[in-house]
Amino acid sequence: MNIIDIINKTKRRTALTADEINWLVSGYTNGSIPDYQMSAWLMAVCLNGLTEDETVALTFALRDSGDIMHLDLPLTADKHSTGGVGDKTSLIIGPIAAACGVPVAKMSGRGLGHTGGTIDKLESIEGFRTDLSIEEFRDILKKTGFAIVAQSGELCPADKKIYALRNATGTVDSIPLICASIMSKKLAMNTDIIVLDVKYGSGAFMKTKADADKLARLMEKIGLSAGKKCRAIVTDMNSPLGNNVGNALEVSEAIEILQGKKKDGLYDVCIELAANILGLAGKGTLAECKALAEKTIADGSALGVLRETIRLQGGNERICDDTSLLPQARCSYTVRAVERMKIVAIDSEEIGMTSLMLGAGRLSKEDPIDMTAGIVMHCSPGETLGADDEIMTLYSTVCSDFSDAAVRALNAVKTSGEARKSYT
Ligand code: URA
Repeated sequence: MNIIDIINKTKRRTALTADEINWLVSGYTNGSIPDYQMSAWLMAVCLNGLTEDETVALTFALRDSGDIMHLDLPLTADKHSTGGVGDKTSLIIGPIAAACGVPVAKMSGRGLGHTGGTIDKLESIEGFRTDLSIEEFRDILKKTGFAIVAQSGELCPADKKIYALRNATGTVDSIPLICASIMSKKLAMNTDIIVLDVKYGSGAFMKTKADADKLARLMEKIGLSAGKKCRAIVTDMNSPLGNNVGNALEVSEAIEILQGKKKDGLYDVCIELAANILGLAGKGTLAECKALAEKTIADGSALGVLRETIRLQGGNERICDDTSLLPQARCSYTVRAVERMKIVAIDSEEIGMTSLMLGAGRLSKEDPIDMTAGIVMHCSPGETLGADDEIMTLYSTVCSDFSDAAVRALNAVKTSGEARKSYT
């Protein structure tokens, strides 16, 4: 085998065999295939795609590049979102499923660009550790039913190396590459149940519902072919999920949901995804599972799971009762409507980028982040605001002029008619 033949085959839409894909992945991981040749192959995949068989082979090759987790429990679940803005669902769904007796083992990543990452959010909790050893991770999972660990080099090292190359070569947005990257990590985590939340819209990788559907069906098929109970749900990411965007702000909102203080679109998405986990675990029909999920919020048992997980992972669990113990921004700035306006849409990618400008995200992996920075939206699409009503509040530790961020965030808020938007 040689790399030029492999690049040419994908360039000419001739399917590669599983052996060729294994050779390619192991050659790149061990350094015998250089970045420039792998980049050429990745770009050919972006332009021409892969067949389903090739995507399955790539997924398994990435999975087999490292360890496969043995969780040592009779039934476990994993939940994955393809990423978005304000997506704190893992912090809510994991505790709900665990409170119903289905342990959720989660390996998460950091945020990059306009999308947030669960690990950054959790690290806004004083003392919280995400660098658990496999033994610690398994131990916490057994004790509370919910544990979260940062992506380590031991699981799917080939994906780690290829993902970094894709980020630097404009080759992220390919359905087969995204599918193989995500599913290899899910299969390496090796839970019995996998529920996937595939997002579409301005803040998601998949801009159209049709593409999200395609990715969802492909991921589901691969999960099932690997012997997992797997379901992919397609959800909207045209507007930010919930009101809060930014690390500590999102942890605070997740806790408010678990405290039963908020029942909005975020709550509905979480109940739906949690119910799908419970359904695959044999806990009943979807309607019965939704009722079970809602009960864990009403009786405080899901919040109890999160409290215990935070404590065992070294964090200050008192935030579950008093969210003001989370880090607070030094400065804030509230944007108000100057006249009556109807909110038609809120562009989540732009809100994510504004949050990044405020310090909540990073453009390159090494950038530091401000855990307190972000945006709280006070309105949602469909609502009509009157003069002086609050549109959003911006938060940051850096108390400089908020005007650039305010202008950018306001441009993300689409209003009907001629209503003039301004800020005070
Ligand atoms: N998340 C991943 O882990 N991989 C991708 O390719 C895209 C999103």
